[in-house]
Amino acid sequence: MTNSFTHPEFKTELPGPNVRALLARDHEVISPSYTRGYPFAIDRGRGAWVWDIDDNRFLDLTAGIAVTNLGHCHPKVNAAIHEQVDKFLHMSGTDFYYRLQVETAEALARITPGDGQKLVFFTNSGTESIEAAMKLARRHTQRPKIMAFIGSFHGRTYGSMTLSSSKPIHREGFGPLVEGVHHVPYGAPIESYYDSLFRYVDPKEFAAVFVEPMQGEGGYVLPPEGWMQSLRAFCDEHGILLVADEVQSGMGRTGQFFAMDHYGVVPDITCIAKGIANGLPLGAIVAKAEVMDWPSGSHANTFGGNPVACAAAMAVIQTIEEEGLLQNALNMGDRLQTGLKQLAQEHETIKEVRGLGLMVGAEMQDPATGGHAKKLRDHITDVAYEEGLLILGAGPSTIRFLPPINVSAAEVDLSLDLFAHALNRAERDKGYD
Ligand SMILES: Cc1ncc(COP(=O)(O)O)c(C=O)c1O
Repeated sequence: MTNSFTHPEFKTELPGPNVRALLARDHEVISPSYTRGYPFAIDRGRGAWVWDIDDNRFLDLTAGIAVTNLGHCHPKVNAAIHEQVDKFLHMSGTDFYYRLQVETAEALARITPGDGQKLVFFTNSGTESIEAAMKLARRHTQRPKIMAFIGSFHGRTYGSMTLSSSKPIHREGFGPLVEGVHHVPYGAPIESYYDSLFRYVDPKEFAAVFVEPMQGEGGYVLPPEGWMQSLRAFCDEHGILLVADEVQSGMGRTGQFFAMDHYGVVPDITCIAKGIANGLPLGAIVAKAEVMDWPSGSHANTFGGNPVACAAAMAVIQTIEEEGLLQNALNMGDRLQTGLKQLAQEHETIKEVRGLGLMVGAEMQDPATGGHAKKLRDHITDVAYEEGLLILGAGPSTIRFLPPINVSAAEVDLSLDLFAHALNRAERDKGYD
């Protein structure tokens, strides 16, 4: 079956009858806390293409938010999954041994930044990776405090929710949160923190600094040049662990296996999830061996390092390396950014286009004020759906573009055409709010 189509295809009005019926049932039974926008309900996917349950075909530039990085149903990944399914599904990696867990740990230790010996702890999600890193950092350093950045997003469980600071709704009503977490502005000069946070708290009280190499949910924000290196130097000076949250930016998304490689910075702990197994739930933290010194029994879980997910992860890593997909992410990221920047010349509503590899954001603005344009942004993503393009928002006013990292040039060009149509239509529409 070919994965390459030249355009979206609609067989019904949008949303079609099957989607409308499913949404009615969904509203009766599914938690209202999810953040659904336009009504896309998947039936199946191949590569960068997805079909809804009325058989309408869309180009998917969300990749499940940087999860299906090799596209939907990648044949090599799916073959590895099928093979493992018939061997065994689970054998508690906490209590027993199996080869796939060791092989996946070896591969992760090899592809994460830094050359020394590293150890791996497997999790099931991004937030669980962050929780594991918080526990490890406090236990290893025997220090109580953790520093994080305004605008960051690290997950929804108590520790990671406390580290996050991208939207009030993530915390409202859930307090009290975890003690000892302090926030400072992302990308600000390190010296400025001595006039704010470190004016009243000694840096030596901090176990770790948690940082996204590029803020994701917070709006696709990049730090200024040289900042990540100065953050590393600051951590070294005070014996603080640098923890990279690569949950969204990792596993090849930015054209390097890990976005920290763009800065040449080696963190003490790297947190991974999302793209690691192309859609199966798996996460990991990879730490310098001298940092991961917690004793037997101090941390564990039931499902972490599930063998089927590990089989998928091995196929993901192998495919990225064999098929040169990091380079493809760089090339296609350039092509996408160039196209979006051209559009920005024609549309005052696009304030800025930024990104690394195929983690790309277009920040929208109200041209009259230069301020956020959340309603326009949301309307553009709705209209794009009607044009057959799936994209999502991030932060107050950004649209994120996350094609699979094996996306073709033709698919990038098509997504730019569809986005331009959506943008023109959305700008013409009145009264969408
Ligand atoms: C940077 C980052 N960290 C952590 C998380 C949490 O991951 P999960 O939803 O798998 O818990 C996310 C999710 O979007 C993320 O983008």
